[in-house]
Amino acid sequence: MRLDRFLTNANVGSRKIVKELIRKKKVLVNGQLCTKDDTKIDENEDIVEVEGVQIKYQKYVYYMMNKPSGVITATKDDQQDTVLDLIHEDIRKDLFPIGRLDKDTEGLLILTNDGKLAHDLTSPKHHCDKKYYVRCQDKITPEMIQTLENRIDLKEESFQPGKVEVFGENELYLTIQEGKFHQVKRMVHHAKNEVIYLKRVQMGTLILDENLKEGEYRPLSMDEIKYLGANYIKIK
Ligand code: URA
Repeated sequence: MRLDRFLTNANVGSRKIVKELIRKKKVLVNGQLCTKDDTKIDENEDIVEVEGVQIKYQKYVYYMMNKPSGVITATKDDQQDTVLDLIHEDIRKDLFPIGRLDKDTEGLLILTNDGKLAHDLTSPKHHCDKKYYVRCQDKITPEMIQTLENRIDLKEESFQPGKVEVFGENELYLTIQEGKFHQVKRMVHHAKNEVIYLKRVQMGTLILDENLKEGEYRPLSMDEIKYLGANYIKIK
């Protein structure tokens, strides 16, 4: 693995910061000063230090992506582009997305190799809030809000009450804890309206970074990982 990639994956900083640290002679590999960011290292064997602190290879890694419309939430597909196709090939190959966003849904997607976190954020028992920005086809009515904020019983399944924050004639935030198939679209449809644009903006404590353009991603910070309750391995 390249040294700069190793340090970025270990959340030492953005690629720019990591390159700067290397250039400024702050990085040692096996006790030797290393000034080339493309130096190949063995992440399991080599000892990497930044300003005297040893950086451990991270077993688990965490990224947030601003998923664009038009790609599917899967790791691989023969016909369609997936969210993993947007990830640089230098980044580890064992990532998968937590939860699913429809092909036309945008916004916050966590990519990781931490199966326990994936379970915790998606299992109904853990009551993890997922907040969506919803643009509706028709005006939002008090009846619509009431429907969304009450349990919805359909023939085949039911949805727990959501929490609604309205901020425009046709726009609202809907927070739900489940993640059933097309859930937001089906809830809004049941409330006699239609979703014309959908974007996830928050999962648990994690808020979509407004600086990420569609299709961009970045590693989660140590604090973001910590507050999500993840399994991460600390920098010593
Ligand atoms: N609800 C939906 O209807 N679609 C999504 O992508 C996510 C939640």
